[in-house]
Amino acid sequence: MSLEGKRLVITGVITKDSIAFHAAECAQRQGASVVLTSFGRVRRMTERAAQRLPEPVDVLELDVNREEDLAALTEELRGRWGGVDGALHAIAYAPEDALGGRFLTAPAQSATAAFQTSAFSLKALAAALEPLMGPGASIVGLDFDATVAWPIYDWMGVAKAALESVSRYLARDLGPRGIRVNLVSAGPLGTVAARGIPGFEQLAALWQAQAPLGWDIDDPAPVAETICFLLSDAARAISGEILHVDGGFHAVGAPPAPAGS
Ligand SMILES: NC(=O)c1ccc[n+]([C@@H]2O[C@H](COP(=O)([O-])OP(=O)(O)OC[C@H]3O[C@@H](n4cnc5c(N)ncnc54)[C@H](O)[C@@H]3O)[C@@H](O)[C@H]2O)c1
Repeated sequence: MSLEGKRLVITGVITKDSIAFHAAECAQRQGASVVLTSFGRVRRMTERAAQRLPEPVDVLELDVNREEDLAALTEELRGRWGGVDGALHAIAYAPEDALGGRFLTAPAQSATAAFQTSAFSLKALAAALEPLMGPGASIVGLDFDATVAWPIYDWMGVAKAALESVSRYLARDLGPRGIRVNLVSAGPLGTVAARGIPGFEQLAALWQAQAPLGWDIDDPAPVAETICFLLSDAARAISGEILHVDGGFHAVGAPPAPAGS
């Protein structure tokens, strides 16, 4: 598997713990050219992280909810590269009152904000990059299994269900142009965002107890490498797919029975 010559746009890096940072690192090691995106107050942090990649890269402005930023991103990339071969959507946000067990009280505007930034934004990013993409291009997003309800995840979980659907519609509409759209459904990883969700540790402990292969919340490499696989030509016939990188957790309904029982 190689990403030699691929021009990739990677969103969602805040620190070197971000899943997207590890994807960018993996992509560079496989020969890709990378730019990161960030926005507003956290941009400084992204710029610091960008300097810690094997090859330091530029950070372009993108608040995925701002039409002006999306239009400027398209033009910047057109001037810089002329085309784009792949993109990672690693963007999620839900207001505090939409998470952490507040499902029944969250106001509509908080649920809507979670949907816009975490799900609609995959369409927004794809629409901005699609004019620069040709056959073989690949868009990858990051999912947390939305087929069931979880403790604490609340409206973020609903937004992930929407993200799963958005990716299928994008696969439908961009497929005829040879552009693929897939999601990686990751197990819990100890990023800044994840640790900030009250009850994250509980979810992480559940994973460690139940995943048939076991699960290390401090090891984003398996997720990063799967992102790179989906961005590569090795995945050229895969679209509209959700690939679980979760130690096999999604396949079982309960922790293993104690030995001898
Ligand atoms: N960490 C986990 O346990 C886990 C598990 C499964 C899926 N995911 C998903 O992985 C992705 C990356 O999350 P992470 O855990 O690396 O955390 P992270 O906090 O490092 O990344 C989230 C990113 O979203 C960006 N973002 C938020 N609002 C934005 C906006 N309006 N415009 C542009 N960017 C915006 C932030 O700047 C940040 O870089 C998210 O989609 C998350 O839901 C995470």
